[in-house]
Amino acid sequence: MKKLLGILASPRKLGNSEIAVKEISRLLPEPHELSLLRLSDFDIKPCLGCYQCLFRPEGCVLKDDFAIVAEALAAADAWILAVPTYVLGANASLKRLLDRGLGFYHRGRELWKKPAVGIAIAGMEGKEGHTKLEVDSALRLLMAEVKASVILYGALPGEVLIPQENRGTLARLAAALFGEPIPEAGPRCPMCGGDTFRFMDERTVRCMVCSNAGTFSFSGGKPVFGIESSGHDLFLTEADAVTHKAWLASMKERFIAHKDEIKAITRGFRGTGAWIRPRRPETPIEETEG
Ligand SMILES: Cc1cc2nc3c(=O)[nH]c(=O)nc-3n(C[C@H](O)[C@H](O)[C@H](O)COP(=O)(O)O)c2cc1C
Repeated sequence: MKKLLGILASPRKLGNSEIAVKEISRLLPEPHELSLLRLSDFDIKPCLGCYQCLFRPEGCVLKDDFAIVAEALAAADAWILAVPTYVLGANASLKRLLDRGLGFYHRGRELWKKPAVGIAIAGMEGKEGHTKLEVDSALRLLMAEVKASVILYGALPGEVLIPQENRGTLARLAAALFGEPIPEAGPRCPMCGGDTFRFMDERTVRCMVCSNAGTFSFSGGKPVFGIESSGHDLFLTEADAVTHKAWLASMKERFIAHKDEIKAITRGFRGTGAWIRPRRPETPIEETEG
């Protein structure tokens, strides 16, 4: 029996994200049990940017629900990520989780290559902004084997199932999850399959999913990409993830080597400006031993 995890970045109960995930589960040919994770239910505190998670055997210093979410991701055999558009981008619950992403290195191999499909949902046709990019990015950063990702439109709860076309798309996602990936339509990054690019100049584009850049031109009316690896990929292979983690950890040595220079710069800015502070206690963190 496969363990399927639906990851919902929507706070809305029985909304389109939840219904789309449950519909895929109903259509999935493989026997499975479905668990659901509503990201907004969890206390995921903002990352402190301290990099301690790279060095502490127990991971992040923040005391919150991150470990519960990471455990659920690791325990599943496959994921369905459904993310509604909020103000032209993914609901913030997704970004809040991803900002804690260095903490996922802690789980290493347990996360690598889980089959996954992604759904970006938007209420108005064409007004999804960067939500699909964030879905693609999230699945790649979580080291999934992305079988397909799509945009579906629907505003009212459940409306996503009204068009027959959407039901067909969800059926294809269900077939792809443990089967063959859905063939990619339209121009794609040859490195990662991403479909969102930044124009760097008249001839060069950068893929916004894998961050690799290269030339683009047209051949027979179709775009041809000369995108190549930068030599420092974040997640295209498991080795990339291991190397990137080591690169991040090496910042400690860089810090030690440049400590005096860095402190001289930062100290000089200490007294500049007046801080407006919230009226609540500091974020609680665990004591580090030693
Ligand atoms: C605060 C807020 C902002 C939204 N911003 C957008 C938007 O920028 N573009 C869009 O197409 N839909 C937008 N929507 C509509 C939702 O994406 C849409 O209702 C979607 O179905 C919600 O998914 P859910 O039912 O899973 O929560 C917004 C909804 C809310 C509540």
